[in-house]
Amino acid sequence: MTQKNIDTPERVSVRVPATAANLGPGFDSIGIALDLWSELTVEHGPFEVFIEGDGAEELPRDEKNLVVSGARAAYNARGAEFPALKFHCANGIPFARGLGSSSAAIVSGIVAGFALQGDGTDPAEALELAADIEGHPDNVAPAILGGCQIGVRSGERWVTSRIAVPDDLHAVIVIPDFVGETAQARGVLKDEVSRADAVFNIGRAALLANALSTGRLDLLRFATEDRLHQPARAGIYKGLNTIIRAALTGGAHGAFLSGAGPSVMAFTTGHEYTVAYEMTEAARLHGIEASTRIVRPTDRGAYVVE
Ligand code: HSE
Repeated sequence: MTQKNIDTPERVSVRVPATAANLGPGFDSIGIALDLWSELTVEHGPFEVFIEGDGAEELPRDEKNLVVSGARAAYNARGAEFPALKFHCANGIPFARGLGSSSAAIVSGIVAGFALQGDGTDPAEALELAADIEGHPDNVAPAILGGCQIGVRSGERWVTSRIAVPDDLHAVIVIPDFVGETAQARGVLKDEVSRADAVFNIGRAALLANALSTGRLDLLRFATEDRLHQPARAGIYKGLNTIIRAALTGGAHGAFLSGAGPSVMAFTTGHEYTVAYEMTEAARLHGIEASTRIVRPTDRGAYVVE
């Protein structure tokens, strides 16, 4: 008879937050966790990927699903054989809308994979694994650590730092009814940027961190401007600039494309319904049907449900 290790559970559930990356100027470097969650349950048993909620029709139900990649990475990290597992995804994070659904899948798979081996998740190790799968840290860092995170690569490692955000900060998100293709949204970007554009973004990324951490939200109007990715992406997402302007007109402090899009997000501390209305109307003017969510940032990253 096989001896059962009481420290290795048969089944674990992990909750993981949505994330918005870039926040305007922080391309591939800054992201924030949002109080909007998906839940992954993994148990031993014949391989299966069951999906309910967002993306249930579109996501793969085989080994290509990123929850499987994440879990496999956690077993590889321990040099352990990857067992047969059943994955149950309850997706509350909008699928492929620039709200970190891929990162959430990777991160929840990693955290579940470690938990099934009787291990807690070391955030630094999880970040290495997740960022290596995803390629950049701006969604996976806040998905693991919670809060607003700066993530940079130095040599062989990822370095992160949390930006404190005001307690009353809200995010108004306009979510178009079509999916975004990250590869396409990255494909339109130039490989080289001018010194003027680099300076434009460096200053604003620094201003963004300072504006959030000191509560100088009046600075966000400038601090969320960008020249590295949004101008090119406005060519794919018609209406992006109009929706951003509408957010500011409605009373938002700043607004930007969320990740690689197509969602657009505004930071507010009041007037959320007016901002949501103005943004949605601006989208409609461009023929874009969109839903809206008003959420708060969360300081909590992915965690095992006890
Ligand atoms: N920083 C990434 C981008 C986020 O803008 O392409 C999406 O993965």
